[in-house]
Amino acid sequence: MLPTLRPLKRYRDEIHLRLLAPEIRRAWRQVRASPHWEALRDLLGNAAFSEFRAESLTLDAEAITAQLPNSTDIAHLTAICKKLIPWRVGPYQLGSLTIESEWRSHIKWDRISPLLGDTSGKRIADIGASNGYFLFKLLQGDPELALGFDPVDRCWLQFSVLQHLTQNPKLGFVPAGLATLEAFPEFFDIVLCMGVIYHQRDPFLACKRLYQSVRPGGRVLLESLTINEPGSHLLVPKERYAKMRNAWIIPTPEALESLLLRAGFTDTTIHRFGPITTSEQRRTEWAPYESLADFLDPEDPSRTVEGYAAPHSAAVVGTKPGAGIS
Ligand SMILES: C[S@@+](CC[C@H](N)C(=O)[O-])C[C@H]1O[C@@H](n2cnc3c(N)ncnc32)[C@H](O)[C@@H]1O
Repeated sequence: MLPTLRPLKRYRDEIHLRLLAPEIRRAWRQVRASPHWEALRDLLGNAAFSEFRAESLTLDAEAITAQLPNSTDIAHLTAICKKLIPWRVGPYQLGSLTIESEWRSHIKWDRISPLLGDTSGKRIADIGASNGYFLFKLLQGDPELALGFDPVDRCWLQFSVLQHLTQNPKLGFVPAGLATLEAFPEFFDIVLCMGVIYHQRDPFLACKRLYQSVRPGGRVLLESLTINEPGSHLLVPKERYAKMRNAWIIPTPEALESLLLRAGFTDTTIHRFGPITTSEQRRTEWAPYESLADFLDPEDPSRTVEGYAAPHSAAVVGTKPGAGIS
């Protein structure tokens, strides 16, 4: 068993294990069938690598930075990380290895971290955590637990490599999607869901699941690509949006808020962050595929290649009514 679920042991009485277990089994089958599995098998099988441990972590720089002992075989670490390309969120600095991810995720962190309030001693979920960049950032606030959810096997494996180096007992990762939140009723103090809602065929159900996983008085932060238009409505792309086949709806910021209100959250506030730019999302050696520049109309970057309004970013914060609001 990859150790990313270990931090959940102490909570086993609060979690519906009968709902979680089949998801974990499914994730295992998926990972074993994936080409990325070889990379992790090599990693675990390498005696030298099993000794690799970060001496310390720097969390307040752009890159999550792990100081590694001089003895660390960086060539081996580099080879493993390259097998796990693309790295969508980051950046990371692992010893002398720099991983320049597609997203310069510190930009998003700088936008959303002031909205989180006091995170000390809190149980926090990051839904759509990718490789866990924001989980590491959250450690700065000394949470009780920072737990990532993502159904993509490559994300689980990337996080596993990082967690192997850092061994932080407060960090965990569930290799499954948002629906798995059913196993965590009223469990979290804070739920982050960023860059996920527009991938949901049923965004109302998704928000209800977020709601059910938050304890009364707890908070949600829902961030998304948005279209910069007034009013509460959804763009439903005919086929693709910014070349994405799995972008089912693109909300306005007010629609993002309506989704949370209709799920039951109250005291919502909308935060508009402006257009996504190519200084935040771009092609890199570690994500060598099409990126934002290829998704926008070269003649008019305020439109996508399909002619829709280009993506902006916005977040809505809401509270679940009930005792103990903090
Ligand atoms: C656009 S990325 C956003 C990554 C990160 N949260 C951020 O805001 O930069 C979307 C992530 O959501 C994950 N994802 C897709 N469907 C999901 C679902 N149903 N539940 C949880 N995560 C999902 C993808 O695997 C991917 O890592």
